[in-house]
Amino acid sequence: MSDDIAAATDLDVQERHWADRLGRLAIPVEILGSAEESPYRFDPAVFEAAALAALRRVEDSVSDRAARDALAPGGSVLDVGVGGGAASLRLGRDGARLVGVDASRELLEVFSTLASAAGIDATVVEGSWPGIAAAVPVADVVVCHNVAYNVAGLGAFTAALGRHATTRVVVELTAEHPLAWMRPYWRALHGLEMPDGPTADDAIAVVAATGVDLHVERSTRLVEAPVAAPGDLVAQIARRLCVVPARHGEVARLLEELPPPTAREVVTLWWDA
Ligand SMILES: C[S@@+](CC[C@H](N)C(=O)[O-])C[C@H]1O[C@@H](n2cnc3c(N)ncnc32)[C@H](O)[C@@H]1O
Repeated sequence: MSDDIAAATDLDVQERHWADRLGRLAIPVEILGSAEESPYRFDPAVFEAAALAALRRVEDSVSDRAARDALAPGGSVLDVGVGGGAASLRLGRDGARLVGVDASRELLEVFSTLASAAGIDATVVEGSWPGIAAAVPVADVVVCHNVAYNVAGLGAFTAALGRHATTRVVVELTAEHPLAWMRPYWRALHGLEMPDGPTADDAIAVVAATGVDLHVERSTRLVEAPVAAPGDLVAQIARRLCVVPARHGEVARLLEELPPPTAREVVTLWWDA
């Protein structure tokens, strides 16, 4: 068996393992059907807050630094799954030209508004990666934060990131699935045993199997408060858990008994083009 065939087989295995674990996190249809609002919607207020927090950070994160180290003055950055722009606005503020790609028009509007308020040169492309890739310009550095857990075909997704970078790709994800801390909530509210989901280690196995020279750095990040009012937090968590307003009191009690984490481990994966 040639090395190429061995690598392709390993990629298939790792990608299937990732997709299987991700698939088991799907919310059962009977619970989904009872929800008043989609638990899967990305709330613009949350990702605007994340982008503003990134702009306020005094020091670069590990992922910011990995991107900046590969970026010449005035270089270009492609941010895939840009959301509000938490991964790229800092780089744009320091002179990089940004392109943001996102499947959500609502999120692209948040990104464009924040970029123009900060005087940053930024354009957007609406669409789902990697399907939209042919319509997106190549950039010096490609960044992609907090998107991997939404992507079943992670090998094809990251390979397309690589084809769009002339110097480096930087992917960031949380060490555990970002909603893993809600497992006791699913149990208490729906009697449901949610699996703990794929982890960053599973993602690392997929990306390594694509054949890139992968660098992995781990760091700890404080979770920035996503919303101002406690009532908003209850509503936000209740939506993720498919809980109707009549049961918000139960969510509020759970939040007191088992508060959300205040910090989490973040994993930066980067490789040179
Ligand atoms: C969890 S948010 C992260 C936003 C931002 N990168 C951050 O770190 O704050 C995920 C974003 O990726 C977008 N997204 C998810 N899958 C995508 C795909 N296949 N192609 C393009 N955008 C995607 C969502 O619409 C959402 O804005």
